[in-house]
Amino acid sequence: MLIGENHPEGTGVKATVVYYTRFGHNAVIARAIAEKLAAGLERIETTRQYGFAQMGMRSFLNLDMRLRPMRTDFREDELLVLCTPIWAWKPASPARTFLKRAHLPPRLAVCFSTGGGPTLRAQEKLDQLLAGRGVAVTAFGEIDSRVGEEELRARACEFADRLGAVASGR
Ligand SMILES: Cc1cc2nc3c(=O)[nH]c(=O)nc-3n(C[C@H](O)[C@H](O)[C@H](O)COP(=O)(O)O)c2cc1C
Repeated sequence: MLIGENHPEGTGVKATVVYYTRFGHNAVIARAIAEKLAAGLERIETTRQYGFAQMGMRSFLNLDMRLRPMRTDFREDELLVLCTPIWAWKPASPARTFLKRAHLPPRLAVCFSTGGGPTLRAQEKLDQLLAGRGVAVTAFGEIDSRVGEEELRARACEFADRLGAVASGR
């Protein structure tokens, strides 16, 4: 689907929003962005759910997570928007596993959701994962998810507006 084909707020860029969520915030964020951009929506899911300590440890130790089958080829898209929580200052492990395996388009936008912590290390980790793959990160967003659903949606829409502005050269 082309962004803007059937949506007045679309940007004319073919895009997909991919998200991972453990506690639901990124589902709200990703849906709002996809709706705003009239983009496709894909979910990263793990084969099992770990507890907080396991998630933190796996992230800290850079361990991959087993993912359920999903679309991995996004080369037909012009832009992929990845929405992921931060785990132990890094993009959550399932999102990192996805990034390693996926065939990405040349442009990636990343929206981190956080519990209020910094995202610089997560951005650096992302750069490492993408090194030499011909993928440019065109926008970073960070959303402190300790707010109600309406506010979460509003913050996601602000990020989507930024993406729309970049795409249309504003
Ligand atoms: C294992 C684990 C580690 C986390 N580490 C961080 C962190 O380093 N910094 C931060 O700001 N938030 C951290 N958080 C909070 C999440 O990033 C935040 O709650 C996020 O919005 C959850 O997204 P979700 O509801 O889509 O799963 C952590 C959460 C979990 C479960």
